[in-house]
Amino acid sequence: MIPSILPTYNRAPLHFVKGEGCWLWEADGRRFLDLGAGIAVNALGHAHPALVKALTQQAGALWHVSNLYEVDRQQALADRLVELTFADTCFFTNSGTEACELAVKMARKYWHHHGQPERTKILTFEGAFHGRSSAAIAAAGSAKMTDGFGPLLPGFITLPFGDHEAFAEAMKDPEIGAVLIEPIQGEGGIRTLNPACLKGMRTACDATGALLILDEVQCGMGRTGRLFQHEWLGIAPDIMMVAKGIGGGFPIGAVLATEAAAAGMTAGTHGSTYGGNPLGCAVALAALDIIGEPAFLDEVRRKAGLFRQGLESLVAGNPDVYACVRGEGLMLGLACAVPNADVVAAGYAEEVLLIPAAENVVRLLPALTITDAEIAEALTRLEKVALRIRTAKG
Ligand SMILES: Cc1ncc(COP(=O)(O)O)c(C=O)c1O
Repeated sequence: MIPSILPTYNRAPLHFVKGEGCWLWEADGRRFLDLGAGIAVNALGHAHPALVKALTQQAGALWHVSNLYEVDRQQALADRLVELTFADTCFFTNSGTEACELAVKMARKYWHHHGQPERTKILTFEGAFHGRSSAAIAAAGSAKMTDGFGPLLPGFITLPFGDHEAFAEAMKDPEIGAVLIEPIQGEGGIRTLNPACLKGMRTACDATGALLILDEVQCGMGRTGRLFQHEWLGIAPDIMMVAKGIGGGFPIGAVLATEAAAAGMTAGTHGSTYGGNPLGCAVALAALDIIGEPAFLDEVRRKAGLFRQGLESLVAGNPDVYACVRGEGLMLGLACAVPNADVVAAGYAEEVLLIPAAENVVRLLPALTITDAEIAEALTRLEKVALRIRTAKG
């Protein structure tokens, strides 16, 4: 008999009932160190007092009004994001997937608006993950996500990740309207695009007029020690997808764009019932107040260095379990020398939560508020994970 929840998830038998900072309490009383943060969502940890306050204050005042009316918190959040980023304009969604939908629509509308409606093709990359809608799975292109869901939304051309020649060749097609890429692939196994590669993409897009769409759903919002990852490279996208950390655990996403890229998006061309609702925007504003502070981002960078150094030692001491460290900032991964599922399972036994990804990687995406002591504790538990696996192997 089919379960009452559609069985699309492989869940671990863990029932968390309370969270605080980097810690989660299981119903049976065990306390887990959460190095996944809801897959890079709880950027400020669980139950951050500033977010709890923003949410409860807003909940007492106003939950929802339609986008038929002015939504003051939404306006304030958009103004703040415009102030802090490359963007001139924002649209709020409820998730990263919806941000992907709009990013694709915006790019196509742009070319329609400019009298070149044939420029519908979008270059995407193997190993990508942009969500689970029809557009997002077509964009990612992997059989794992698309099998049985055809016909797929046409117009996506998937290229090997980091292959300059394939990219340069593909860009010759005059129907290419946009390039969509995660600067660091999350689900794809914490694969960082070579900075020169991303800069080269910017230049190539400028040459043909194609729009550069960055998916910073997982790597953005302070995760790499800058508000957005592309800031490290001194380039800016035309369109950017944001979600996860922006709401610190409250479901909200956004598309940020330049005025030029958004040229086709006039009244009535897109909308959302819940997107930009007062609750989500109040929480996101509170999160941005903290994450957008340069001193906070300095701390993320410092702690990332500390964690990385510890992980390098961990790998050096346990090469039979961990093969290497990947990633940037607090978007880290351990490529495993044993099946990553075994590492995740041993993590459960050692009360530390790790997130599996492609390429036999476990992801470490802790709250950006993780303390030095918690980093030390994470390393201790990862050491115990290795020992447990070694012991089980005999
Ligand atoms: C890079 C990236 N883009 C898009 C998404 C989709 O976001 P959501 O699950 O909020 O729809 C995800 C989710 O994991 C992601 O990691």
